[in-house]
Amino acid sequence: MSAFRKTIETFVAGAKTLPQRYFVSPEIFAEEQAKVFARHWVCVGHQSQIAKAGDYFVREVAGESLIMVRGKSGEMRGFYNVCRHRGTRLCEAASGHAAAIQCPYHAWTYGLDGRLVGAPHMDDVPGFDKGDYALRGVKLALWEGFIFVSLADKPVPLEEVFAPLLGRFTHWNLPQLRSAKRIEYDVRANWKLIFENYSECYHCPGVHPLLSKVSPYDSAENDLCEGPFLGGFMTIAKGASLTMSGQACARPVGDMKGADHARVFYYSIFPNLLLSMHPDYVLVHQIWPQAPVRTLILCDWFFHPEATGVSAPGYNPEDAVEFWDMTNKQDWHVCELSQQGIASRAYQPGPYSPRESIPAAWDREYLRHVSNS
Ligand code: FES
Ligand SMILES: [Fe+2]
Repeated sequence: MSAFRKTIETFVAGAKTLPQRYFVSPEIFAEEQAKVFARHWVCVGHQSQIAKAGDYFVREVAGESLIMVRGKSGEMRGFYNVCRHRGTRLCEAASGHAAAIQCPYHAWTYGLDGRLVGAPHMDDVPGFDKGDYALRGVKLALWEGFIFVSLADKPVPLEEVFAPLLGRFTHWNLPQLRSAKRIEYDVRANWKLIFENYSECYHCPGVHPLLSKVSPYDSAENDLCEGPFLGGFMTIAKGASLTMSGQACARPVGDMKGADHARVFYYSIFPNLLLSMHPDYVLVHQIWPQAPVRTLILCDWFFHPEATGVSAPGYNPEDAVEFWDMTNKQDWHVCELSQQGIASRAYQPGPYSPRESIPAAWDREYLRHVSNS
């Protein structure tokens, strides 16, 4: 495909890893939270997590607890998880289903659209108007079925930010997919190490022997080489799949053609999403920095809705889950080792190889956000 260029061609000579402070400093961590996570569109989940009216889930973004909820007429909204009476946290559960949002303290009750609908005894307060005390909303937008929120007052519209990706993944049916499994990983490493690790396969022969057997480490071809969206594809050995058995574990997720049946597409979406599209499933990592040296990673395995169920031929999600759970843990282990070494006084930025052009590009994009304004 002519649109794809070899990784090696995009290499910027002299690129080095980031200085130590970016991986250990609480000040830089706070700056990242303020300038990246509190400003940018960040992925909080997939629309299938709140499929029915009243379904909700809670996520913390830049220190703010947010409720994402499906309203009565099907629309999705995001709210700060903060009662307008005395500020109490409203939803304690990570997810659930409710007809309304009721505060556990004095039972103020909010509709799924955020309007205050019940406030016991407040009618006795002169001038009190329920209309003045709706839940504070956050901007919410969808891209390919994924839910993004922005804490910014006036964010650049999501369609504008995602313009380079518009239409690019349509044939993967991402809005229709369902997660069959989620695993949460608590990794003792800075969040940027997770992106840098994901963005190269230089480490694959040593760290992932099984992955390297099915998908040659030097087969990477990238078509997004600079900016907030980075990645491309790697090839999968003929007739194989990235599963423990080596066999496909479900019907294809997308309507892909020809060579795409033997490719896995890996993209990082700044600042917190990794999208790995295999022929038979889509792996999604959400990256949530918790502290300079700690990162929470939510990993979902998505399948075509018709792939699932007892009657679906060849459906065996565990085959993929086990494969990537093993591969994930291999990655997190080397990220934790990196973190340990980077914290040493002996650490100095090291030179990236030509096979690490994408981590170098990711670092450049990151620095554009934290070094400006
Ligand atoms: S703090 Fe929520 S009802 Fe009082
Ligand atoms: Fe890896």
